[in-house]
Amino acid sequence: MRKKITVIGAGHVGEVTAFKISEQELGDVLLLDIIEDMPIGKGLDMREGGPVGKYDSSTFGTNSYEDTVNSDIVVITAGVPRKPGMSRDELVGTNFGIVKSVTENVIKYSPDALLLVVSNPLDAMVYTAFKTSGFPKNRVFGMAGILDTTRFRAFLSMETNVSVESIQALVLGGHGDTMVPFARYTTIAGIPVSQFIPQDRLDAIIERTRKGGGEIVKYLKTGSAYYAPSLAITEMVESIVKDKKKILPCAAYLEGEYGINGIYFGVPVKLGANGVEEIIEIDLTEEEKQAIKKSEAAVRNVIDLLKF
Ligand code: NAI
Ligand code: 2OP
Repeated sequence: MRKKITVIGAGHVGEVTAFKISEQELGDVLLLDIIEDMPIGKGLDMREGGPVGKYDSSTFGTNSYEDTVNSDIVVITAGVPRKPGMSRDELVGTNFGIVKSVTENVIKYSPDALLLVVSNPLDAMVYTAFKTSGFPKNRVFGMAGILDTTRFRAFLSMETNVSVESIQALVLGGHGDTMVPFARYTTIAGIPVSQFIPQDRLDAIIERTRKGGGEIVKYLKTGSAYYAPSLAITEMVESIVKDKKKILPCAAYLEGEYGINGIYFGVPVKLGANGVEEIIEIDLTEEEKQAIKKSEAAVRNVIDLLKF
């Protein structure tokens, strides 16, 4: 039987995500938003594209949570994006209330769903969904690391003129400017990246990766990135629906891993039918441990603002 995948928030990220999931026939897609009728129009438009796009997913939009009943996966993109000059963390006041109420509504109708949170500030918003739902930690996780990693890979490809498909990389930590791109675990066709790019250029690419979200906001002016984010979400949904058990950097709830307790943080996880099936711990140098600690402190500062 096809999976039922609900996307909450039919704005930029929600609509592109719903479209990619439909196009890849990963399941039947439901798109929900509070703006009257808008998700219904977007869902119908996607459904009408099926014959020419050659996909059979039954996609539709709604304003009613009753339609979300028995969803297998719920992707939460509801909330406001940042504007130029803002940090993701400044969204916490508005998006906390939105993510909390969305989660309350979702769990009423889909008590067995997996919750994939996207709204920012990401690590704090996944924490919000986790605490609000009371779901086990394997069923609540967030998307950020794949986005940060795909940006890093794209910049490395631009620098070396090598296919993006040959570049493997890893960005961990909180989804903010303290994220930690790991040059030591970055390879091009299995060859350490240091053999392709001198250290000063690599440092510049790492810095650009950290600020990658802000770079897009600066150009868009009215919102934030959505193509790369939606593709990153789709990769997670695919790994779950097909039980591929890919190892992907995602925001997961840590209980001692990496020396971190009680928060969501970007780490490599095995993602399959049961959600986060395993957290992978990697060896870190002293310098990398310090970078992780700094990122942990940044995430904790935002989580401390949540009013539970
Ligand atoms: P957008 O403004 O285009 O869309 C947000 C949608 O959420 C709007 O259609 C709005 O009506 C809807 N919404 C607001 N409150 C709602 C509620 N209570 N229930 C249902 N829908 C509601 O924003 P965009 O670009 O789609 O971004 C959405 C969120 O995702 C933002 O918080 C943004 O910062 C975050 N984001 C996170 C990424 C990540 O890597 N984790 C990547 C990209 C965006
Ligand atoms: C980004 O990094 C908006 O957090 C999102 O583009």
